[in-house]
Amino acid sequence: MSLAPFRFADLRQESDGKDALLAGLLADRASIPPKYFYDDLGSRLFAAICCLPEYALTRSEACIFAEYGSDIARAAGPGRLLVDLGAGDCGKAAGLFPLLDPAGYVALDISADFLRDALERLKRRFPALPMTGVAIDFTRSLDLPESLLAPAAAPRLWFYPGSSISNFTPDEARAFLARIARACTDAPGGALLIGVDLVKDKATLDAAYDDALGVTAAFNLNVLNVVNRLLPADFAVADWRHVAFFDAAASRIEMRLEARREVTVRLDAQARRFAAGTHILTEYSYKWTAVGFAALLNEAGFARLQQWQDADGGFALFLAEAA
Ligand code: AVJ
Repeated sequence: MSLAPFRFADLRQESDGKDALLAGLLADRASIPPKYFYDDLGSRLFAAICCLPEYALTRSEACIFAEYGSDIARAAGPGRLLVDLGAGDCGKAAGLFPLLDPAGYVALDISADFLRDALERLKRRFPALPMTGVAIDFTRSLDLPESLLAPAAAPRLWFYPGSSISNFTPDEARAFLARIARACTDAPGGALLIGVDLVKDKATLDAAYDDALGVTAAFNLNVLNVVNRLLPADFAVADWRHVAFFDAAASRIEMRLEARREVTVRLDAQARRFAAGTHILTEYSYKWTAVGFAALLNEAGFARLQQWQDADGGFALFLAEAA
């Protein structure tokens, strides 16, 4: 007999994005949404990126938790239902459990198998904590059945760490944060704990997204393997080159795949020719100022902001309540 140690719901839709993915690849300015990076290999490559000397983002956020964790936990208060947006290996949330003393944990992620494995391991470490896994593309919908948000009486703390918000344009970010703000009012006491990477000099940012070992290049190129399986398509990874740079005027990293030579790619039932040097946009990663991001949170319907930064001001963590 095997007993499910936690609840698990798969709320992904079969059509989730496949049409949009195809449309993006056929558009004049071809693009692939960054959520497709994170298959099993992509998730591992991202974990490797976080260990790179050039990529400080994850370490900076961890420093904030190490330095100010108890302040943050005191500000948030114990006994909350921690709702983790993009839980991945659940490592960040788990690190907070001892400080935050949550009443329950709900982990959301697009990658179902990765999430299930992570929760299985986590349940062994925290057997008494009620846990729920939800496979969902929460960028499309945050509508969770109330039955999954258990224990129901606990005030909710929405957790969106790692500067995942960077993948949204400012308009998209405002709209997404407004949806979280509305979700925060579903039950009394809702709040958001969110991490955001801050603007810094171009050389540092360029190197963080084009590292010497080529791990980010591998991460970027691997999205073609994902697309090949999903559509299906027949991209040859060797025909493409990783390009990434900080566009200071737009305050964002732009990551692309550039055709090394002229190629024709089958895309599901269609085909597209890419001339040598043309590119597919795979990711924007917006860099905010702390002041700019606080204003964005206010515009989205949050108030009573508290903020913590790492020692060199590279990263900020905000705690915000729905206004
Ligand atoms: C997960 C979106 C925060 O933008 O830094 C890392 C993804 N892409 N290296 C980021 C990423 C290339 C990452 N986020």
